[in-house]
Amino acid sequence: MQLTVVDHPLARARLTRMRDERTDNAAFRAALAELTQMLVYEATRDLPVAEEPITTPVTDTTGYRLAAPPLIVPVLRAGLGMADTAHGMLPESQMGFVGLARNEATFQPEAYMASLPSSLVDREVFVLDPMLATGGSLVHCCGLLTERGATSITVLCALAAPEGVRRLEESGLPLRVFTASVDEGLNDKAYIVPGLGDAGDRQFGAV
Ligand code: PRP
Ligand code: URA
Repeated sequence: MQLTVVDHPLARARLTRMRDERTDNAAFRAALAELTQMLVYEATRDLPVAEEPITTPVTDTTGYRLAAPPLIVPVLRAGLGMADTAHGMLPESQMGFVGLARNEATFQPEAYMASLPSSLVDREVFVLDPMLATGGSLVHCCGLLTERGATSITVLCALAAPEGVRRLEESGLPLRVFTASVDEGLNDKAYIVPGLGDAGDRQFGAV
């Protein structure tokens, strides 16, 4: 597992807005979308490109496009807030969906939907979930992807806890993780500290 912390002044500023309890749902969604741009930008830095001949108004030249746009997989609910931005930056990508809700008594993820291609052999996959806490949700989601043959998975999250990072490392899954921060740890409710609270509720309200 390869971990990259996207520690940039603009990322810190967006994350600060997300952490602040005074930030309302709309401003939280806006800050998460802006942070997602930075995470996608960093995570796509080394994607292979294919050359294509183009003609500018002045002359012929060589242009570039992504050789194989990744499959984007937001983890519902909270990952939905990253999906449009990631798709806007990767317009040729297809999108799959995984629905998970963490049981707040056991902290185990409970799956309620998966809409994924049956084969992910030779496909790069980008998983979107703002929160990596215990790591249970991402281990479950990425397990669904490797069961379908994925061998290269990139996880984009706003915030991670050291416990979740360790869990992903120990899982042996073929992962790269990009996050804007690795926080101090988890509290007794398995919330990230200092964290930002419940990323789904902060975007969409408590249901
Ligand atoms: C949050 C978050 C992750 C998960 C992280 O989702 O978006 O998916 O918790 O926790 P973990 O690392 O301990 O598994 P939640 O289950 O609260 O569902 P929601 O997105 O519908 O709010
Ligand atoms: N899920 C969240 O939304 N926030 C946390 O801090 C932990 C899990």
